[in-house]
Amino acid sequence: MTRLSRRDVLKLGGLALTAPYLGSPRWARGLTAVGSFPVPPRLPLIRPEPGLVEAELSAAWTQSAVAGTTARLQTYNGSFPGPILRLREGERVRLWFTNNLGEPSNLHMHGLHVPPSIDNPFLSVSPGETTVYEFDVPANSAGTYWYHPHLHMRVARQLFGGLAGVIVVEGRMDRQLRRRGADEYVVVLKDLSLVNGAPEAHNPFDWMSGKEGNLLLVNGAVQPVLVPRTSLLRLRLLNASNARYYRLALEGHPLFLIATDGGFIDQPIELNELLLAPGERADVLVQLNTAGNFRLLNLPYDRGSGHGMGGMHGGGHMGGMHGGSTGSTAAPDVLMTIAAGENPPRSLPSRVGLVEPLAPAPGDVHRRLVLGEAMMGFQFYLNGRTFDEARIDFQGRLGDLEVWEIDNRTGMDHPMHLHTYPFQVLSRNGVPEALRAWKDVVNVRAGEVVRIAVPLRDFTGKTVYHCHIVEHEDRGMMGVLAV
Ligand code: C2O
Ligand code: CU
Ligand code: CU
Repeated sequence: MTRLSRRDVLKLGGLALTAPYLGSPRWARGLTAVGSFPVPPRLPLIRPEPGLVEAELSAAWTQSAVAGTTARLQTYNGSFPGPILRLREGERVRLWFTNNLGEPSNLHMHGLHVPPSIDNPFLSVSPGETTVYEFDVPANSAGTYWYHPHLHMRVARQLFGGLAGVIVVEGRMDRQLRRRGADEYVVVLKDLSLVNGAPEAHNPFDWMSGKEGNLLLVNGAVQPVLVPRTSLLRLRLLNASNARYYRLALEGHPLFLIATDGGFIDQPIELNELLLAPGERADVLVQLNTAGNFRLLNLPYDRGSGHGMGGMHGGGHMGGMHGGSTGSTAAPDVLMTIAAGENPPRSLPSRVGLVEPLAPAPGDVHRRLVLGEAMMGFQFYLNGRTFDEARIDFQGRLGDLEVWEIDNRTGMDHPMHLHTYPFQVLSRNGVPEALRAWKDVVNVRAGEVVRIAVPLRDFTGKTVYHCHIVEHEDRGMMGVLAV
């Protein structure tokens, strides 16, 4: 990474910001940039009547700007990452989805509390077909969500190929933060490997470890430079990678966590580092009180993905197949640089939300979910089984508060995700969770037992839970919950 001075950065793009993407031979459709930091376009919305929002998304292979070059990717509306769907609490959304991929796909609104009959992973949208997804954005759901394909056995390839976009739900606190001067950016962390100008195909080991790419992209760019307009920066972080974990730290600055997967927490929490597993989101505030260049780092994290490879891994001929950040001895990667100017300091809010406490009672439904493996990690199981869409694994009752105990008996971390019903983490290995927060993905470390509280509210139907290392999901590490 070349170190840019503040003046260089201003020369490159400046503060007004419709600068061309550095080194890109062709400017991507609709993307704007701050410094060299690409900002995904906003999905154009039509508001045919008050409270109703309509938009169109189409998935196709397109020639797209990525990593300072162009490549043939699978994209939504030709944009990588996909356009940002910006919604407000309480409004009705009608989303027209057209599949031009040449293979079946569908759309999933990851994290949004909407009926499973609408956000339906069992639905296949054929090539050339248009489907409408119509749902209400729940009250009090302000937060960062995302959309991506969810057709079983095709998720890993379509997500790796580029199909992912952010959904922002705005509420009162977002307006308050803006009034405070918070300069807000969506930050999509997604790795990718390109071969002959297209996403690299999976190899057999990718189906075991989850596929990691050698390009660590931030909104599709390698090590972009962001020039914030104020001293209070708000980042909406999404890990849209198939399998890569990000252990984030910003040079010289703590990160103030204000929201998790399901929206705002009670008050900002100061963190020196933040682990983001696949599928997870985090909103952070950063106070930039001195001018300078500060790098956002991805610190080494061992998610145990070498497990089961035995002598193969130690023998060295597997070495190049992994991104290098999964071993515990690797050096940090630089994801992006924040080039802060001299701006008047801004204060942090003292409260940002109010998370309802969930207090399970002894009589509540208690479930166990055991994560197991066979063939040295080439196959993973939930309670000894692989996914069967015709089978109901858990039968729940509307209105119940359930406690799920997730017991990871494998040698690898698994980010476990539940559709439809946001949950709260109660404990990890018996240690009560200090942070009260709404989540839809929880990382369960190798050998760990995590307890979560799941309120089955508002909607009945058939939904799924699965590992968000999407190769594991495609290989059957998924189950059906019917309510
Ligand atoms: Cu983001 Cu079922 O997944
Ligand atoms: Cu999901
Ligand atoms: Cu997994």
